[in-house]
Amino acid sequence: MKKRIVVLSGAGVSAESGLSTYRDNGGLWDGIDPYEVASAEAWERQPGKVLEFYNIQRRKLAEARPNEAHRAIAGLEKDYIVDVITQNIDNLHERAGSTHVVHLHGEATKIRPENTCNESDGFSEQYVVDCGYGEVNIGDIAPNGAQYRPHIVFFGEAVPKLERAIDLVEKADILLIIGTSLQVYPAAGLYRYARASTPIWIIDPAEIPLYDRRITHIRKKACEGMEEFVRELHQE
Ligand code: APR
Repeated sequence: MKKRIVVLSGAGVSAESGLSTYRDNGGLWDGIDPYEVASAEAWERQPGKVLEFYNIQRRKLAEARPNEAHRAIAGLEKDYIVDVITQNIDNLHERAGSTHVVHLHGEATKIRPENTCNESDGFSEQYVVDCGYGEVNIGDIAPNGAQYRPHIVFFGEAVPKLERAIDLVEKADILLIIGTSLQVYPAAGLYRYARASTPIWIIDPAEIPLYDRRITHIRKKACEGMEEFVRELHQE
């Protein structure tokens, strides 16, 4: 029986693909207030500014390619049952070959009518459409007559895939946390659902203020850190 690995990823796993993180120096939130472009309130007040922010993210994503860390994570599927729970709205895990990816905060390349809720049930999901890397603007109207909005979990909105993520972490034999500052809940609290016997690995070049005896911190960038992580796995 293959062991189960759950990978909780954040923006740092895509940094070496040239996509900015949020909170590092020069990151996306360095100079942009997230509540102006990525919150439910901003969508109500200035939807055009929100749409433009995500148009810019999509243009950057069109130029980005998966990196060796994305590929190493996908490669784990040879020997393990792997579920990726990502906070990232990019599609680089999928493009690297990962087959089970849960996007906790939505996906940049998807949109849905603004009058549908972001429930991860069959009903609402049917309204979600793929917009690729193209622009979405005011006046782009869905068949049901509503303005299209990014299929993103805005600040201030519920995280509909949280229960699914918790279920996956509870079942994990190994938990890998890679490239996240663990500052945004509920994603940041997911590791607490891992069993007491589940080893937790963190790959991040920065200090991570977590003190838990299950944690091994590989203090490296994602690509190099994944090489070390895979070596450690093969020694188990
Ligand atoms: N390799 C690995 N980790 C890296 C690298 C790298 N090359 N470069 C930076 N990091 C680490 C940083 O040290 C930091 O811990 O990646 C993390 C990035 O943290 P954030 O910028 O806060 O991104 P993230 O944790 O994914 O943000 C979570 O916040 O704004 C919301 O919805 C947004 O999903 C996002 C959420």
